[in-house]
Amino acid sequence: MGETWTPSSWRKLPIEQVPDYPDPHALARTEERLKSFPPLVFAGEARKLKAALGEVAHGRGFLLQGGDCAESFAEHGADTIRDFFRAFLQMAVVLTFAGSKPVVKVGRIAGQFAKPRSSGTETKDGETLPSYRGDIINGIDFNPDSRIPDPERQVAAYRQSAATLNLLRAFAQGGYADLENVHKWMLGFVAGSPEAERYGRIADRITETIEFMNAIGINSKTNRALQETDFYTSHEALLLGYEEALTREDSTTRGEWYATSGHMIWIGDRTRQEDHAHIEYCRGIRNPIGLKCGPSMDPDGLLRIIDKLNPANEAGRLTLITRFGHEKVEQHLPALIDAVQREGRTVVWSCDPMHGNTISQNNYKTRPFERILAEVERFFAVHEAKGTHAGGIHIEMTGKDVTECIGGARPVLPENLSDRYHTHCDPRLNANQALELAFLVAEHLKSGTGVSVSDKQRQAAE
Ligand code: PEP
Ligand code: CO
Repeated sequence: MGETWTPSSWRKLPIEQVPDYPDPHALARTEERLKSFPPLVFAGEARKLKAALGEVAHGRGFLLQGGDCAESFAEHGADTIRDFFRAFLQMAVVLTFAGSKPVVKVGRIAGQFAKPRSSGTETKDGETLPSYRGDIINGIDFNPDSRIPDPERQVAAYRQSAATLNLLRAFAQGGYADLENVHKWMLGFVAGSPEAERYGRIADRITETIEFMNAIGINSKTNRALQETDFYTSHEALLLGYEEALTREDSTTRGEWYATSGHMIWIGDRTRQEDHAHIEYCRGIRNPIGLKCGPSMDPDGLLRIIDKLNPANEAGRLTLITRFGHEKVEQHLPALIDAVQREGRTVVWSCDPMHGNTISQNNYKTRPFERILAEVERFFAVHEAKGTHAGGIHIEMTGKDVTECIGGARPVLPENLSDRYHTHCDPRLNANQALELAFLVAEHLKSGTGVSVSDKQRQAAE
């Protein structure tokens, strides 16, 4: 490291989580083919996202990032994408209103196919096979053939990403994202929620605001900004051969390289070793980068990684996505914030309340809604105490009514987990749980403290 960066310079360095492709020549041929395919996103779009994240870093915006843990080839219907987008936009409206700040919308979608695993193998009924590593690498079915990494899957993932992105662009720009639609869907959610009264307080104020704007002539018919939205894509840049093949030099700014597999990419908690391949690849591309920070991230190590990924201290370049577990936030987050503040580094702080809160119940991997909420609340409280901006959340969610995370206002019970447990990897919030989380986070944004609005109102009344 420190030497000249090229899209392939990562290949000389140690690397974690590499699939064992049986035929390296076939892999190389596929990568060559991918190099000839059109980019999925443009450099200019990645720059626009970076500028929007720069505003978040300065406290003038909020990042909402979410989607599947792992996209799958099996679940690629228009309705899956539409339902996700619909739930996501509702969350964004609630958060925009509550924070009175633009919400930067970034999906874990159109490329989120490769998964790091805690073990290279999986054993079931006495049989041991290579672990499933995401549909871009091998198949989820537990049989020896399906678990063999197949390079052709990279082409399938690329094509699925292109089709998904195409539909998302149409939804975002073609009228589906109209604020009046989103508002109606949101009211439908609130009306059907057991917490209708609580969420209704924010919903009613959004309704009043929209009615007021309408009365003075600002609506989606008169104002394009209310009719469409900017929506960006992101995924973990785990499979570096694929990322390299889609790395392109920007024709408008010679010498600048971009990952064109998605607008933003992130480095997972298992592949962020400072002298290893994933950091090396990411340091050379100009997209916005996310860095997952789990309990083993120490402040000095973090500063060294920041030096590599963002030496120019560009706002919006780096988002630190902390994922400690609800009980460990106060133990780990303050020291990271102190180090970043002391050295004057500009970052977006985002909270992933999913990956530190996974437990096993009835033989299912699940996540209790209260723990997810608790991690977000503690994240807000720590930032409030430090005077730093709690800049975003990063969640695993779907627009479908799955039963993967337990709890919520209309609770998924442990005995319901088997009803609609569809994820290919980690448990996701269903549409109701995701929207509920947005309303609960909104209370914090509205109050500007780690204390919820309802607590504040109660205190004021006493
Ligand atoms: C993920 O985001 O799906 C993931 C694997 O996260 P982490 O790297 O934080 O464990
Ligand atoms: Co996950």
